[in-house]
Amino acid sequence: MLSVHVLQRRSDHPNRDETLSDLDKLALQYGTDKGSHHHNYVETYESLFEDIRPSVKSLIEIGAGGVSYKGERCASLQMWRDWFPDAVVVGVDNDPTVQGDNGPRIQIAIGDQTSKSTLDLAVSMAGGSPNIIIDDGSHINRLSIATFEYLWPHLADGGIYVIEDTQCTYTMPVFGNDRVEFDRFLLNLIRCVDVNGRKVTDRDIADLNKMGDFALNTYESTVQSVLAVRGMVAVTKRQRPLSPGNTEVAAAG
Ligand SMILES: C[S@@+](CC[C@H](N)C(=O)[O-])C[C@H]1O[C@@H](n2cnc3c(N)ncnc32)[C@H](O)[C@@H]1O
Repeated sequence: MLSVHVLQRRSDHPNRDETLSDLDKLALQYGTDKGSHHHNYVETYESLFEDIRPSVKSLIEIGAGGVSYKGERCASLQMWRDWFPDAVVVGVDNDPTVQGDNGPRIQIAIGDQTSKSTLDLAVSMAGGSPNIIIDDGSHINRLSIATFEYLWPHLADGGIYVIEDTQCTYTMPVFGNDRVEFDRFLLNLIRCVDVNGRKVTDRDIADLNKMGDFALNTYESTVQSVLAVRGMVAVTKRQRPLSPGNTEVAAAG
């Protein structure tokens, strides 16, 4: 069961430096805006990744941060590399300046976040099935959704896909975004979780388990949860695909 514990904001704590988590210290050290000095996504990430952290073998982040980005170059890739001691960290960016000496266990795929060949390269650098995918790239809804749709089948079972900075999904002038597009995307994922392996019709719920053969689509069978947390959406993949009729639950009574 996924839970996010937010007790006291570290940035409000009187002894702030002493209470900084390891992840936050790394965020501040490398200069990513995910730290408590800015978006404070680290607080959510610690809870979100707590269970899978020891077993994470690879992570892909869309948006590595090149020299044209106001933050530090490849800051979050270095943070993740240090925090996941066994993981290969793959950055995808359309700015070639993200290439360079990024230290061990960091790999870079240059290209647009919707380029299939770039994403294929990133997946292969990540060993074929990344445990975590984070989209901190264009923040353009159309591109974020296309990237999700292409990469979701590659995410490892039990993996987590995060779309950051969802406040940007509303910002029409800067990103040309239409929130309706993102709402449609999110609501579809939530619907796929809600139906819990059943076919939805206008018939009574009691009929649903008696229905004949039907197929579940990719998201109906593989999305475990959709979580919105302060500027991010996290979609978790099931450990194994759900069967039509959700026989696991039926068998368990
Ligand atoms: C916010 S920065 C990433 C910051 C980094 N994740 C960090 O926390 O340190 C966004 C990056 O996304 C890249 N980007 C923007 N649009 C993109 C696209 N369509 N395809 C690939 N990368 C893109 C930019 O070049 C920029 O380096």
